[in-house]
Amino acid sequence: MAAAGEFPADFLWGAATSAYQIEGGVREDGRGETIWDRFTHTAGHIRDGGTGNLACDSYHRYADDIALLSALGCRAYRFSTAWARVYPEGYGRLNDAGLDYYERLVDALLVANITPMLTLYHWDLPQALQDKGGWLNRDTVSAFAEYADAMSRRLGDRVPLWATINEPWVATHFGHVLGIHAPGVRNRKTALQVAHHLLVAHGEAVPVLRANGAVGTQVGAVLNVIPCHPASDREADSRAATRQDGAINRWYLDPLFHARYPDDLQELYEADAPETQTADMTKIAVPCDFLGVNYYTRMLVRDAPDARPVMTTTVEAAEATHTANGWESYPEGLYEALTRVHTEYSPKAIYVTENGAADNAGPDRDGTITDRVRLDYLREHLPQLNRAIGAGVPLRGYFHWSLMDNFEWADGYTTRFGLAYTDYATGTRTIKESGHWYTRVIAENELREV
Ligand code: FCB
Repeated sequence: MAAAGEFPADFLWGAATSAYQIEGGVREDGRGETIWDRFTHTAGHIRDGGTGNLACDSYHRYADDIALLSALGCRAYRFSTAWARVYPEGYGRLNDAGLDYYERLVDALLVANITPMLTLYHWDLPQALQDKGGWLNRDTVSAFAEYADAMSRRLGDRVPLWATINEPWVATHFGHVLGIHAPGVRNRKTALQVAHHLLVAHGEAVPVLRANGAVGTQVGAVLNVIPCHPASDREADSRAATRQDGAINRWYLDPLFHARYPDDLQELYEADAPETQTADMTKIAVPCDFLGVNYYTRMLVRDAPDARPVMTTTVEAAEATHTANGWESYPEGLYEALTRVHTEYSPKAIYVTENGAADNAGPDRDGTITDRVRLDYLREHLPQLNRAIGAGVPLRGYFHWSLMDNFEWADGYTTRFGLAYTDYATGTRTIKESGHWYTRVIAENELREV
């Protein structure tokens, strides 16, 4: 067991991004439209009217991204591939230029000695598939398997870590219940069917990725795990927290690891519960090599009898520290999420695939970027990794969100999550104070301040 403050020698330190948030080049080399292109180009959807048209221009500047990863000392990079660059219509006609781009990226990472973790679906569905019903249409599941096949045929010999889907709860809830993410649907029955198809898509892709991957390839899904705590000691709030936990966490963890949806939530959802085909649940629960856990914050839950069907609302923690987008900094929750997943679901390995804080600090006169909020957040969250390892969690790595400031979905460019500052006018990336601190932690493989 690692001594206090020290990480295992092979701990994979990295940073994460996703395609739509950084690439730009949305009309280049045959890339098809995605639901996020369509969504951002509709007035009123994005806080500052931002789009991913240019973003960090990583389509052209991926070498800068890799130089940045190297400067930070990162040993791994989690990025996602844009399905519509590879299949502009979602399936059928393969666009070689798209595959070539990802091949260049992966090869350059390997030259720099950085391990790639490739996420296939980080929310940017090809619009052509949305036009046929999107994730509500079961055919999207087969299209995803086809896309997984094409990617892993080309890159399976070089990419050791594959993540199928990213945060299905967010894609479902924000995209299909609240309608504040693409595709902007507001229908719970649709949403739950979408969630089911996302999980089946994961299940169908795993054997494909394994078949095409080199020996030792590791495959898994990425979930956001949000501890849901009752806002008071009232019994009603505690039941509400259980329901909220069911909707956000157990609805995805239970099928992936126990081949079933949680009974209490199925009852609540009644007729909105998804239609499933025979063998779906076994398919979803295909054994994986790891689970990716994204952790940012917790939720404090209050009973809300009028809010159907989960009947909860969330409240702000009194006297808590909040990051720039209002999320509570709650370090203990990272430990709670990791130990809970380990105890209740026992994935073979766990990676923290995202963790980070919004902090909009910019350069001061001499160009230094003092992002205090992120620094404090990191200082308080990283020791929780050590604690979790000490408690027996098979934690293999940590990817900070994000490598650099990028397009933050509905918040557009108003919210910065990077270890490096992106100057959107020039495209320059500059390491912030948090990034320098992270570099020291990686180099020492130890947290000295704990
Ligand atoms: C997660 C997303 C990621 C990023 C962070 C802040 O939910 O997976 O793309 O936006 O939040």
